[in-house]
Amino acid sequence: MRTVISADELRTGIASLARRLETHYQGQPVMIVGLLNGSLLFLADLVRELRIPVEYDTLRVSAYRGEATTAGAVRVEVGHVPPVRGRHLLLLDDILDTGATLQAVTELARGWGALSVRTAVLLWKRDRTRAGFLPDEYIREIPDVFVVGYGLDYNRKYRQLPKIVEFDPSIPAARQGLPS
Ligand code: XMP
Repeated sequence: MRTVISADELRTGIASLARRLETHYQGQPVMIVGLLNGSLLFLADLVRELRIPVEYDTLRVSAYRGEATTAGAVRVEVGHVPPVRGRHLLLLDDILDTGATLQAVTELARGWGALSVRTAVLLWKRDRTRAGFLPDEYIREIPDVFVVGYGLDYNRKYRQLPKIVEFDPSIPAARQGLPS
């Protein structure tokens, strides 16, 4: 099993992210909205680390990359709109790949009346990200490899791992040190 970020590195990375956010928000309250399901563990650990007033909520997003859309385009369906009017909004996701998901959600969120909208991700596949959209905050840049753990899944499995590891779906899970 090839570790991309150990549990210790996640702890220290999230702690330093929290310090950067405290500096950015200067004691102002922030509404943190985690994209389901991948950002749940990240959200839970980040809010417990922050020393500024925080509210949090989640957003279920269905992203479709169908033939009917242009390459990389994502249609986002949002069920419940979190109460962000008049608040600073921080959107959290597990990973920024092409950037299509978070870009679409950011554009939607700008219409919800937040004072500001920022994004933070655990991992950034910078080489795959299309031009024009960058995360405001990220913990680690990674190459274009598929990863699981700490919220990230393969067919809904492995989200519960305390660290993030590389996963190759073409190799049996047991041979990669993971339960099948
Ligand atoms: P975009 O391209 O919209 O994609 O930035 C973001 C979403 O793609 C999923 N994703 C992954 N999920 N391991 C995963 O478990 C990966 O290596 C990976 N790369 C992208 C993820 O759902 C993310 O929210």
